[in-house]
Amino acid sequence: MHILDFRSDTVTKPTPTMRHAMAEAEVGDDVYSEDPTVNRLEAKAAEMLGFEAGLYMPSGTMTNQVALMLHLKRGQEVIAPKGAHIYEYEPGSLAVLSGGTIRLVDAPYGTPDPEAVRAAVHTSVHQAPTGLIELENTHNYAGGTVVPLEAQHAIQQVAQEAGLPIHLDGARLFNAATALNVSPAEVAKGFRTVSICLSKGLGAPVGSILLMPKEFRAEAWRYRKLLGGGMRQAGVLAAAGIIALTEGPKGLQRDHQMARALAEGMLELRLEVDLQSVQTNMVYVGGTSATHFAQRLAGLGLLANPLGSRVRFVTHRDLPDEAVPMALQRIRQALQIA
Ligand SMILES: Cc1ncc(COP(=O)(O)O)c(C=O)c1O
Repeated sequence: MHILDFRSDTVTKPTPTMRHAMAEAEVGDDVYSEDPTVNRLEAKAAEMLGFEAGLYMPSGTMTNQVALMLHLKRGQEVIAPKGAHIYEYEPGSLAVLSGGTIRLVDAPYGTPDPEAVRAAVHTSVHQAPTGLIELENTHNYAGGTVVPLEAQHAIQQVAQEAGLPIHLDGARLFNAATALNVSPAEVAKGFRTVSICLSKGLGAPVGSILLMPKEFRAEAWRYRKLLGGGMRQAGVLAAAGIIALTEGPKGLQRDHQMARALAEGMLELRLEVDLQSVQTNMVYVGGTSATHFAQRLAGLGLLANPLGSRVRFVTHRDLPDEAVPMALQRIRQALQIA
């Protein structure tokens, strides 16, 4: 049986081109900033996203947390959309590393109302002072949903008026750019810092980059070291990252079309799917016992992630073209309506 793995876009394996580039990579000690391939990757990402500097790290959790450390003083608050990855899935890191706290604002389909963000900014001495505003694009918990550019600009305006920095968790920024049909730089524009992941839809085995103004880089570098994120001959990994950046985005349209087809097929099977939330490469299904449903599917060779009361399906480059009809057939079987 061909196992269909829809758990995450992180399950992709490096392509033969990536493996070749990894084998051939020119390397040095990156803790001495002497790895030419890492330097090339950081420069490429900075150029693609319209930033002065980039810093390569092992994970998106680390790039987000280093950004929070850069922006927040102890006891300060970050305003973030409900369901934010920095709150839900980065295990207390904000409290441990920055000594900060978080204020979550309602965010239908991952996008907060700019006026709700404005209202959440603290000015009273009785409250934790706001130190940062954060957005997530695409927003994982909301369904891989895209922040519309107009809302992004309005929230950036709020940040500017309040004199606050604004960070973007852009783990899936390239999915957002694909869905919006704009350049990645357009999605990254107006943020003080942006984190992107290479190891999700773009297909690299490892890696994330924090984009920032050049005056932030020395401090970000020190925080990465503090967290144990200094990697030595990391060019072996960065070589795959360069291919992920240049080739990876080309496959995202297909991922999005597959997610859409999967969601429509599920609706026909009377599963609970909010089509409006299916904007990129994710489909969340409710209305069933999530763990039980995912277990039944796994028994039929279809892997998906139970997350709370929902099951998440994520499309990615390693799924074959016929994955959606095959998955729907297995779902039908799991629901015993074959
Ligand atoms: C929106 C978002 N941000 C950050 C991360 C963290 O990435 P990593 O798993 O590389 O730490 C993820 C991972 O799924 C994510 O979905």
